[in-house]
Amino acid sequence: MSSPTTFPEWFGIEDKVALIVGGGYGMGETIAKHLARAGCHLVIADIIPERAEKVAADIRAMGRKAHAAIADMCDREAGVAALEKAEADLGGIDIMVSIVGEAAWVSFLDTTDEQWDLDMRRNVEGFWRCSQYVGRSIARREAQGGAILAIASVDGIQSSPMHAAYGVAKAGLISLVKTMAVELSPYGIRTNAIAPGTVKTPRSVERSPPGRHDRRAKEIGILLGRAATTEEIADAALFLVSDMSRYITGVTLPVDGGWMAARMDVKAFLPKEGEPWVRP
Ligand SMILES: NC(=O)c1ccc[n+]([C@@H]2O[C@H](COP(=O)([O-])OP(=O)(O)OC[C@H]3O[C@@H](n4cnc5c(N)ncnc54)[C@H](O)[C@@H]3O)[C@@H](O)[C@H]2O)c1
Repeated sequence: MSSPTTFPEWFGIEDKVALIVGGGYGMGETIAKHLARAGCHLVIADIIPERAEKVAADIRAMGRKAHAAIADMCDREAGVAALEKAEADLGGIDIMVSIVGEAAWVSFLDTTDEQWDLDMRRNVEGFWRCSQYVGRSIARREAQGGAILAIASVDGIQSSPMHAAYGVAKAGLISLVKTMAVELSPYGIRTNAIAPGTVKTPRSVERSPPGRHDRRAKEIGILLGRAATTEEIADAALFLVSDMSRYITGVTLPVDGGWMAARMDVKAFLPKEGEPWVRP
């Protein structure tokens, strides 16, 4: 085999079909467009139709095929129906990245059963159902190869103040990608996760005063002194689903600006005396 000479060849994913669960906005949209630039065709799965359709249209304008799969991807029946339609349109899915996830911001003592269950559903259940679908599809087609990536969080690796349920859910994802790496390796499927620290996603930026992310990043000890951009998460995602990482499976890569290396300042998360418990 001759050496690759262009970046799409180097990535080795040209004309592969990639599913982005939660691909209609934020990190998911950025990852979808990175993979399109590397030559993939895209299934954009999102619960909000206009988002999925807009990103799919953008990708078609980039010269790649795209299918908008509209469903609550945490729901097995709806998710499977949407993915079957997508595969009938674009062919079998080879790559999956799941972005869907959110956190209740609440102290351990005040967490309700409903908040706990919701964090498990939106952070773990969608990922496990979609990756089981994709794993089965690759195995059935004897496609010999594929990559699955979860977006976890540093909260799944270290303590997670005000995010007890979320931390457990993200730790669950980190465990699941290791088990999947073992069980799916006979099919040539690699399974990994990214653990972001703090990221300027459109949703988190909309909810915060200007400049707050980077200020907080400095206060809590992130070595690079700022929050990540969605492009920086997408760079790592492209690496982990492409041939650039063909010898890597079962790992969780922190993309956290050195936050964990510096030992996260947990106390910075907790309210100071007399202050309300607000989100950082
Ligand atoms: N922002 C941060 O600082 C940070 C840090 C660590 C980890 N993360 C992780 O990043 C992810 C969030 O990234 P974001 O803020 O860019 O995404 P987002 O929350 O804006 O959501 C991306 C897309 O997912 C869609 N979506 C939500 N629920 C869905 C469902 N059930 N089925 C189908 N689509 C659904 C939304 O409509 C949206 O278009 C989460 O997994 C979060 O835990 C974020």
